[in-house]
Amino acid sequence: MTADYGMGYDTYGHTPLDKAFGQGDVYGVAYDAARAARPLVRIAIIGAGGVAQSKYFPAVARLRMIWEPVEIVAFAEPREEHGRKVQAIYGGKWYRDYQDMLAEEAFQAVIVLSPDNLHAEHVRAALDAGRHVLVEKPITRSMPDAQQICQMADDKHLCLMSVANKRLSPPYRRLKRFIESGPLHNPALYSAKFNLGYDYVDLFESGTIHLFDLTRYLMGDVRSVYASGVNRYGRNTRHYPVDSAALTLEFVSGAVGSITTSSTALSLKPWERVEVYGDHAWAAVEDQLELILYDGEAAATQSWRPAVPNTLLFDEEFGGYMWLIENFVQSIRGAEQPVVTGWDGYRALEILRATQMSLHQHQSVTLPLTPDSAEAEAQEWLRSSGWNG
Ligand SMILES: NC(=O)c1ccc[n+]([C@@H]2O[C@H](COP(=O)([O-])OP(=O)(O)OC[C@H]3O[C@@H](n4cnc5c(N)ncnc54)[C@H](O)[C@@H]3O)[C@@H](O)[C@H]2O)c1
Repeated sequence: MTADYGMGYDTYGHTPLDKAFGQGDVYGVAYDAARAARPLVRIAIIGAGGVAQSKYFPAVARLRMIWEPVEIVAFAEPREEHGRKVQAIYGGKWYRDYQDMLAEEAFQAVIVLSPDNLHAEHVRAALDAGRHVLVEKPITRSMPDAQQICQMADDKHLCLMSVANKRLSPPYRRLKRFIESGPLHNPALYSAKFNLGYDYVDLFESGTIHLFDLTRYLMGDVRSVYASGVNRYGRNTRHYPVDSAALTLEFVSGAVGSITTSSTALSLKPWERVEVYGDHAWAAVEDQLELILYDGEAAATQSWRPAVPNTLLFDEEFGGYMWLIENFVQSIRGAEQPVVTGWDGYRALEILRATQMSLHQHQSVTLPLTPDSAEAEAQEWLRSSGWNG
């Protein structure tokens, strides 16, 4: 007999069983009185490009399909072809200038999906206008900026969340539960492997930062980072200083771990694997899909995979986007705590900067960092290879 570790609620991304079988509502779209009774939250989006169109607009539409009262009333996008297309498909008022949108439209919250280097400006403007904010990763391109906007949100008593959609992806939710409630309580060892798959973005800022956040979410705060790296093929079009890196981590809990990450093996999608080792038990998540639990010698190995990956499951659902947006609007309503805060985004950026400082110094770097000096050193390391910012 295998334990279920209190996971009765957890559907691994599928329609809840009572809806699917009890009510014959396979797609989970029948009237949901409890969800429909939640107060309406009006949101706006800044930046309607790739991730907005492929993840956020569909995720909000799917949430509405299952009766979540959330509405995108407006979006700001300077590119005409995107603005016209998104408006035609999803509605909402299209603005070329985000400042006009903030001044003219009535909404409680903003999702910032603009390029990384504009996050700080857009978050500041939204907070200044009294709006709650969910901002894509990395929270900003600099630690002092990240610190400043997090403090600003706290001072204004506004909700600031940074995007960490993996936290809400079913295999990682379940892994987190194993760590919190057993059988992986107080883990000793952690290992994460990441193949970014693209060589036209920044290795740490663009992809690996997801694993920095996930690592901290699962294992707690990082005490030190030692990183070694190589620019093996020199092919990165932005002249990032390394194309592959191996990190050794010490956690505040006393546990140890490693992260390896690379952008050299081109692929149409990033690939990853996470392993957590506890006392007489360990678990692995293969490519954010299959979770395998090796629960000691006496218990059978258990594994979970979505049963119908491409029919009933939506990427925006399994990828965590829907649940992140749901958690954001529920936090605004005061009905839930944010699963990831702006300060979590700051801490993920801090691990990233510690990694870059360690690559610069060829020695271990201890956290917490001093934002200004960490930033200056990381910039020096980045510019040393001709990186174009
Ligand atoms: N969570 C994830 O896995 C994930 C995946 C992809 C991208 N991202 C992040 O999402 C953000 C957007 O990435 P993307 O791939 O969609 O990029 P993108 O370039 O396709 O989209 C960004 C959009 O912002 C618009 N924009 C530029 N300046 C603007 C302004 N002043 N006001 C409003 N809009 C403006 C651009 O015209 C563009 O359409 C980035 O921060 C990126 O790191 C996260």
